[in-house]
Parts: sequence; C-alpha cells; structure tokens
Amino acid sequence: MPGDKSCSHRAAMLASLSPAEGTIDNFAPGEDCARTLHCLARMGVQVHRRGTEVRICGRGGDLVEPDRVLDCGNSGTTMRLLAGLLSGQHFHAVLSGDASLNRRPMRRVVDPLNRMGADIRMRSGAGAPLSISDGSIAGGRHCTEVASAQVKSAILLAGLYASSDTEVLEPGVSRDHTERMLDHWGVPVTWNRGRVRLDGGGLEHLCPPAGGVRIPGDFSSAAFLMAAALMVPGSDIVLRNVGVNPTRTGMLDVLELMGADVQVVNRRSWAGEPVADIHTRCSSLRPFEVGEEMIPTLIDEVPVLALLAAHASGVSAFRGVGELRVKETDRLAAVEEELGALGVRCWTRKDTLSVEGSDGFTASPAVSDARGDHRMAMTLALAGLPDGRVRAGDGSSVRVSYPQFFRDMQALGARTDSGRSHLRLGLLGENISESASPPMLRAALRARALPGSYDLFDVRPGDLRTAVQGLRALGIRQFNVTRPHKVAIRAELDRLASSARRLGAVNTVTEENGALVGHNTDAYGVTRALREAGSDPAGARVLLLGAGGAARAALFAVLDAGAGLVHIANRSPEKAAHLAALALSGQPGVKVQSSSLRDIPEGRYDLVIQATPVGTAGVDCPLPEHCELHPEAVVFEMIYRPVVTPLVRRARSAGAEVVYGAEMLLHQGARAFELWTGESAPVEKMRETLGRVLRW
Ligand code: S3P
Repeated sequence: MPGDKSCSHRAAMLASLSPAEGTIDNFAPGEDCARTLHCLARMGVQVHRRGTEVRICGRGGDLVEPDRVLDCGNSGTTMRLLAGLLSGQHFHAVLSGDASLNRRPMRRVVDPLNRMGADIRMRSGAGAPLSISDGSIAGGRHCTEVASAQVKSAILLAGLYASSDTEVLEPGVSRDHTERMLDHWGVPVTWNRGRVRLDGGGLEHLCPPAGGVRIPGDFSSAAFLMAAALMVPGSDIVLRNVGVNPTRTGMLDVLELMGADVQVVNRRSWAGEPVADIHTRCSSLRPFEVGEEMIPTLIDEVPVLALLAAHASGVSAFRGVGELRVKETDRLAAVEEELGALGVRCWTRKDTLSVEGSDGFTASPAVSDARGDHRMAMTLALAGLPDGRVRAGDGSSVRVSYPQFFRDMQALGARTDSGRSHLRLGLLGENISESASPPMLRAALRARALPGSYDLFDVRPGDLRTAVQGLRALGIRQFNVTRPHKVAIRAELDRLASSARRLGAVNTVTEENGALVGHNTDAYGVTRALREAGSDPAGARVLLLGAGGAARAALFAVLDAGAGLVHIANRSPEKAAHLAALALSGQPGVKVQSSSLRDIPEGRYDLVIQATPVGTAGVDCPLPEHCELHPEAVVFEMIYRPVVTPLVRRARSAGAEVVYGAEMLLHQGARAFELWTGESAPVEKMRETLGRVLRW
C-alpha cells in the first residue's frame, strides 16, 4: 500500500525542524502531502524527492519567512499542523487553501494556539486564510472540544517551542501518530487514553532516527480495497505493509462485528508504528452499531463502511458522527444523498447515521456526485460492485490521497467505467448559496444516469469577465446564470440564441463547438408553469408586478399566449413604462400599459403575476390593498422561497388559484437540462426533489 498520509505529513514537518538530514521512505503519493512539502520548501527547507523517497535537510527549528501565501490546497492536516508549527516562528505567514479547505472550521486550532501565546487571525467566519505573526509560546494544559488529531498535533508542534510542559486532554482518543513519532525522534513525551504530556524544550531533543524512517501503508486507502474484496464474490486479496495503529483501525473492529473474513497477519513495527499484512475474503455481512467513542478511530472510513452496511441485511448505525459535517465536504449529507440515490435507505438524526441494508444489494443505475471529496469519490466508485463496473464519474479528487486508486482497482480485476464524459454544470450568480438548482439538477443527472456535477459559482459583478474566462479555461461551458449577471453576461458570450436576444437576458449558457451561446429559458418556464396550473392567458387581463428580468420573461410569455391586456406596475413607473415600450415595439397592436404600484387602475384582473423581489423575506405584499382578488383569478407568485409569501396567503384567502414560483424554477431548469444534454428532462424527479428541498 502507498504510504500513510497522516504519518507522511508529520515526518516531513519533524524532519524540517530537526537539525540534521532525514530520509523518509514510502512517502505518501497524494497531493495533500505534496502540499506540505511545498509549504516547507517555501520556508527555506531543502526538500529532495525521488518518487516515494524524500530527503529533508532540517533547519533546527528556525524556518525562513515565506515571501507569499502558503497554499495548503485541499489538505486540512497541512493547514492545521502548520498553524501549530508556525506559532513558534518569529515571522509572519499566511496559510490558505482551496474553497473546501477555506470553508472548514479553524477556530478549533486557532483558539488553543492563541492561548499558548501565538498570534493567529482568522477570516471572519472562523476559517482560513490564517494570518500568523511572531508569537511567544508557553506550554500549559489544554482541554480540546473535539477528539481531533489535527488539533492535538497543532498544540504539540507549538509545544515543541515552549520551555514549559504542554499537556493535551481530549474528549476521546484520536490517532496518536504525532506522539509516536515525537517519541521515536527522541522527544520526551508520554501519552495514554486521550491525555498527552510533552516536556518543555522538546525541540532540542528532536533528531531524525539513524537510517531514516519508513512510512507504513495507508490504512485509510487500504480500507477501500478491503471493502471491494468483501463485496465481490470470490475475492481473496492480501494488502501488504499496512499501518495498523489501533487509533486508526476501528474499521477492523466493525468488520469483525459484521462477520467479515479479515485476517491481520505478519505484525511488525516500522519507526514506532505497527504494520501488518491484511488478508480479506468476500464475506456475507451482518449489520452493526458503532458508538461515539469509536468514531475517531474510523473517522475517515465512515463513508465506505456505510456502503458496506448497504450489503448487510438490517439497520446499521454510527453514533456521534457530527464531525463528518466538517470534512472535505459535508460527508453525512453526501452519504445520505448519494447512497440514497443508489437505492439505499439511509438517514441521519442528530449525530447518528443509520443505513438499512440488504444481502444481495445492487445499486440502482445512477450517476453520483462525489462533490470533489476523495473519500466520497472512492466510496461511490465502489458502489456499483459486486456486479457493476467501477464507475469513474469525476474521480479526479482521489489525487489528494490515493492517486493510483483506479489503477489498483483495475489490477484487482475491476472494470473501470470510462463511459460517458463528465458533464460539468453549474450556476453563476451572486449570493446563491440557498439556490435550489443544485439539488434539482443533480437529481436530473442521476435520473438519466448521466455522469456529471452541478456546482455554484458565486461571482461579484466586477469579477464577471474574469470568472467567465476562468470557466472557459476550466472547460465549464454549460451553466445557468442568475442575478445580477443575466444582462451583463451577454457581453461575455460568443453568441445569443433568439430567446436571449428577445428578452435581453441570459439564464442558460450552452456550448456549441467550443463557443459559449446564451439562451433564456425563463419565459418557457412561465408558460409551462401556467399551463400546468390550467391557466390560459389567451384574451386574459393580466396585472404584472415588477419590471426586472423575471417580469420581462413573464411579459413575453403571456403576450405569446395571446393575453388581451397587460398592465405593468412597478415601484418605479419609468422602468414599467420602458418595459411596456419594449413589448409594444416588438409586437405592435398588443394592449400593454404601465403605472406605479400605487396607480394601478381599478378593475378585474384574470391573472396577477408577481415578479418583484418583495415578499422574499416573508413580510411585505407588493399588491396594493386597493387591488382586490376574486375567486376566479389566478395568482402567479414567482418567488419560490418562502413558498407561502404574503401574496400567496392573500390569494388563498380570496379563494384564487395559486401558481407557485417553484413550478417555474422547475420548468426553466428542465429546459436548460434538455439544452445541455439533448435528453428529455426527468420533470417528475426534479419536482419531487424541489418539493423536498423547498418543502413545497
Ligand atoms: C488527520 C486527522 C483526522 C482525519 C484526517 C487526517 C490527521 O482529522 O480525518 O484525514 O492526520 O491528523 P481530525 O483530526 O480533524 O478528525
């Protein structure tokens, strides 16, 4: 097995702080550990790497101030452990990472380090980038809030610089690689069940072991191959040189509970870490329960164990798995949604994850989204076993911990699905974190078994041009566009389809032979939503509230359907008049008038369309009091969050028919899906997803 990630980070850091040259053999191959080496090199450490052999000339504790931000990529261990190590330096440094890492909680390391005398600042929201200045470290006793090896290790690395003793007490027992390695490298340290004590002045003792260190194979990578062997009949595999540190191998205990045929043989020790060969044969599996105290020992294996639980008849449960919410992605949500889409019943209540499995389980055909998380990618790749192929989907994130995963799976006889190319879709807008489009379109991809992902691209107006260039460069050329970019984006595209030209706005971008083409599916969404509700605008008197992008789409939709009269009312009457003029210039002869909201003429309207943002917060109703609703009227509320706005409430009490904004969201999304994939949209599946997400 390739070298362990946790041990490799630690060996590289300790070697950098030691006064001599150290060699590390079987260094982890993934990008995470490469980030650690890269950051250390930026601080004057000489790093020589040849494949899995790394030679480091330590600087005896004094690193050099980096001249740029230290990029930790996707690696939480790099960032949190380096925060500890940098606390003892006499310079300023900034640690940053990718979007996933910069979202992860950092207060858990920053608070104890600052209490030790470090000077670290976080971004508001308690995440990275972290800015670390010259501090003066003292030891002391630290009770951590979570059993996290990263937090404990950060404190211990800072503690190397303290002249007084450092003690860490944890609420559970997390992996003890740092303790073992410090001990092996000559530093006075003792530990026992969640309690570690490091003597003051530890740095002076630090010395790389003669002959170098050899990193054990990564148990967390081995876990995926073991799981594959357990699921595929006839499998019988031996994984050699795997680290079996008991603070890491909770999965072995669970497998024993499951009745799995797993033998740990040939036990020995490498540089203070237990190592063994693991022999796994396909087995019939029983469900299990894991208590909170065991979670730290299998924290990275929960997703793959959840998949194994799907193969065991009955309900399995993991208690106390809340920490999974703050890993590379929210792994609880990811497991629940992705395994759910494959036909596994799984649910979370508070911090307990439950999975109902069955012997002979086969996944329903679907395409999964690993959300850029390496352990989700490997778990989902195995989800098609025992009969199916190993589905590649977007498996590129395996590069951070186990780059040769797909190759190794193939070597073990698995067929890798190179199948259809991965569709990379998304939504470009500002403040879009609450958007219902990602779950809706991911559900559509799954239902059509199309490999793909749908991501959010939150972009400020000033950054639109660069963002579109970036998306082009990344090969992301099919996406939705929302506020505030619908109009401005036209200038960034190669061509506009007639729908977008007519509305003067774009909500969907497609790719044609490398060119970006703007479309607008909003008017289509309005038309379909009205039709679903049985409302026919032909000859109708329509009152349209609002004059922005949404109003524009509604206006063209009702005019195309032959509306008898449209009265556009808007807070600013000038904007309403402008929109009316636009409609008249395109379709002379139609009856379109405009006014301010206050001056809406009395009279019966058959259809009221609400296209202002008023009511989003659930307080105001944009329809003036003097406009009465009658039971024959249809009220179309374009806001979809909340579902029940003040206007919807008024419409309901007047006995009027309501058309919900979610229905429009659904159909504009369905049309976009069809433009991107050339396949019919699974509208019912998408509606069901929206219903769940919006409680509609
Ligand atoms: C790690 C500790 C764990 C683990 C991560 C690596 C380490 O994180 O999930 O993959 O090397 O110390 P926490 O300590 O935050 O639980």
